[in-house]
Amino acid sequence: MLDPKAIITIDGPSGAGKSTISRGLAARLHFTYLDTGAMYRAVGLALQRQGIDLADTEALKKCLAGIELALSPNGDDDVLVVLNGEDVSLAIRTPEMGLVASRVSADPLVRAKLTALQRQLGEKGSIVAEGRDMGTVVFPTAVGKFFLDASAEVRASRRQKQLAEKGQIVAYQEILDQISKRDHDDSRRTLAPLKPAADAVIVDSSSIGPEAIIEGMLASLAKIEPKGGKHDG
Ligand code: DC
Repeated sequence: MLDPKAIITIDGPSGAGKSTISRGLAARLHFTYLDTGAMYRAVGLALQRQGIDLADTEALKKCLAGIELALSPNGDDDVLVVLNGEDVSLAIRTPEMGLVASRVSADPLVRAKLTALQRQLGEKGSIVAEGRDMGTVVFPTAVGKFFLDASAEVRASRRQKQLAEKGQIVAYQEILDQISKRDHDDSRRTLAPLKPAADAVIVDSSSIGPEAIIEGMLASLAKIEPKGGKHDG
């Protein structure tokens, strides 16, 4: 049986269905959903707005120190992201901000700030943490780790549909190119690259719907012996 204070991690490339599945799994477990991609997007937005050059370490440190970030559930399928008192939930969801987030996420100072914040948010356990390095770096002792993958083409069509539902019409090829670039950059970077943890269960979502994936994850989690999944490092 799963420890009610467990930490579950779901990593994977963009568009693999992580958000829907992480949110759905968190709801089924009555756990908190932690969207760490939203955190990198919000920091990317802050740095972009202030025109910070990542090479200017002093300016970057100062800007990061002034960033206050709060995440909370916003209805069934969204996260309210508040950056220094401003609701940036919509502003961070553009494909452009995905690329900006990917770029700033390779910076060690940015990662240090967000890794610390993510561990703080996960301190009490009972979370489903979604991102790129949840199982490998942020919560290495998590009891349930999943790596969700799908082909780049499937991910691009899904992303195009999601954006269209939000009123953003973007060409398929443009999305596919952005996804491929982000996959490349996120998995080749030196720090906390996108990769499955050695003990992660790899799930290919290309041809399985979210409900079936969540059921499979619940079944796999039910087999775990309770031993506490809190981060202890
Ligand atoms: O999951 P997303 O598309 O919202 O993430 C945006 C970018 O943030 C992603 O391309 C890489 C970065 N990211 C990261 O480096 N580590 C995480 N744990 C989450 C996101």
